[in-house]
Amino acid sequence: MVTSMSKSIAVIGLQWGDEGKGKIVDLLSSQAAVVVRFQGGHNAGHTLVVDGVKTVLHLIPSGILREGVVNVIGNGVVVSPDALSSEIEMLENKGIPARSRLKVSTECPLVLSCHVSLDHAREQKAGGAKIGTTGRGIGPAYEDKVARRAIRIGDVFDTRSCNEKVEQLYDYHNFVLTKYYAVKPVDATAAQAALVQFADLVQPLACDTAELLHDHAGQILFEGAQGSLLDVDFGTYPFVTSSNTTAGAAITGSGANLFEIGEVIGVVKAYTTRVGAGPFPTELNDQDGQSLAQRGQEFGSTTGRPRRCGWLDAKALRRAIQINGVTKIYLMKFDVLDNFKEIKICVDYEGDSNIQSTFSSNPSGILSVKPVYESLPGWESDTTSVRSYSDLPTEAQQYVERLRELLGVEIAGISVGASRDAMVNSHQSLIP
Ligand code: GDP
Ligand code: IMO
Ligand code: MG
Repeated sequence: MVTSMSKSIAVIGLQWGDEGKGKIVDLLSSQAAVVVRFQGGHNAGHTLVVDGVKTVLHLIPSGILREGVVNVIGNGVVVSPDALSSEIEMLENKGIPARSRLKVSTECPLVLSCHVSLDHAREQKAGGAKIGTTGRGIGPAYEDKVARRAIRIGDVFDTRSCNEKVEQLYDYHNFVLTKYYAVKPVDATAAQAALVQFADLVQPLACDTAELLHDHAGQILFEGAQGSLLDVDFGTYPFVTSSNTTAGAAITGSGANLFEIGEVIGVVKAYTTRVGAGPFPTELNDQDGQSLAQRGQEFGSTTGRPRRCGWLDAKALRRAIQINGVTKIYLMKFDVLDNFKEIKICVDYEGDSNIQSTFSSNPSGILSVKPVYESLPGWESDTTSVRSYSDLPTEAQQYVERLRELLGVEIAGISVGASRDAMVNSHQSLIP
C-alpha cells in the first residue's frame, strides 16, 4: 500500500449529520494506513458508492473497502454486538474480508437490548417532546459508560464474570423499565447467551487500539460520525446525540495523543438536512424544501426516515468551523442544487448574535429566530459530469466563492454525485 499522508487528518461533519462523511473518508483512505471511528455507534449510516456498488456502514470505518488499510473501532464508540456481527457478515457476503481489516478496542462499551428498550420507552413517554433518536440505544449506552456500570468488549472474554455483570445491569434497568416506564422487562439470559457467541467473533479483533494508532502516527484518518450540531455540548441541546461529535473527541475516543491531528477537514452539504426533532433555522416547508428532499434523496441511511431540508446556514457553519479548527471543507451534494433558479444562503439570524444561546435556550425545540438570507442566481444546468473547477457554470463558481468568503476556509473539493469519482478537483487550490 502506498501511504502518502504527511499528517493525520480528522474528517468531521459540520451540520446535523449525513453530510457525506463516508464518501470523503473512503476517498481519502487511499492515502491512510489507519481509519478510526472514535465516537457514536450504529446510529451512524455512512454511504460509499464505488463502481456502482453501494455499501452502507454503521459501525465499521469507511476505509474497509481498501486493501492494506487497518480499520479501527476506537474506545469512544459504543458497540452493539448484533450490529457489528451483521455488518461484518454483510461485508463478507460481498467479498470484502472485513475481519482481516478490522480492529476493535477492548474498552468499547457495549450497546445491549436493555439500552434499546430504554431508548424506545423514553421516546414513547416523551410523546410530542421526543428527540427523534435512531432508537438504537445509543444514549442509554453512553449513560452507562459514564455511570461506570457499562459492560465493555474486554469483559466478554471472561464468561462467568460477564454473566454476573449482565445480571446486575439488567436487574437495574428492568426496575426502571417496569416500574417507571411500565413496559416489559428485558431478558438477561438471552443477552448472556448472545455475548458468549459474540466473544468468539470479537476476540481476534480486540486489542489495545491506542497502541496500534501510536505505531501509525501521521498516517491516521479519524472518521467523525453525526455532525457538529448534534454534539452533546455544542449542538442544539437537548436535541443532540449523546457523544461529542466535534474534533476533540477524536483524541479521547481513540487514545491518539493531542498532537496527532495535523488537520481537521469539514464535510458540508451544499444545503442543510436534519433527521429527528429540534431547532432548524433554515428549514423549508415549501416546494424548494421538497425539491431538495427529492433530488437529494433525503431519507436516513440508518432509519429510512425522511430528512428535513433547508438552505445552507453559514452562521451555524462558522461556529462549527471555529470549534473544530477546520481549515478546509468538502462541499457535498452540489448537484442537488442544479435545477434551482435561485439559491439562498443564511448569513445571519435576525437580531441575535450568540448562536449557542439561540440553539440551546428552548427546550421545546421550536426556534423563534429568523434567518437573514442572501440570494444567489442558480446555474440551472447539470454539473454531475464536471470534474474541473473551470468547467463549472459561472453561477456555480460564484456560489462556491461566496461560500468560501462567508466561511473563511478553503474548499478542498466539490462533490457532484454519490460515487467515489464524482468530485470536482480535489486538490487544495481549487479556486485559483
Ligand atoms: P454520512 O452519514 O455523512 O456519511 O452521509 P450519508 O451516507 O448518511 O448521506 C449522504 C447521502 O448522499 C448518501 O446517500 C450518499 O451516497 C449521497 N451522496 C454523497 N455525496 C453526494 C453528492 O455529491 N451528490 C449526490 N447526489 N449524492 C451524494
Ligand atoms: P451519521 O454519522 C443524522 C440524530 C437522530 C436524533 C439525534 C439523537 O450518518 O451522520 P441518537 O440515536 O444518536 O440518540 O439520536 O441524533 N442522529 C443522526 N442524524 N446522521 C447521523 O449519523 C445521526 N446519528 C444520530 O436522528 O435526531
Ligand atoms: Mg449518515
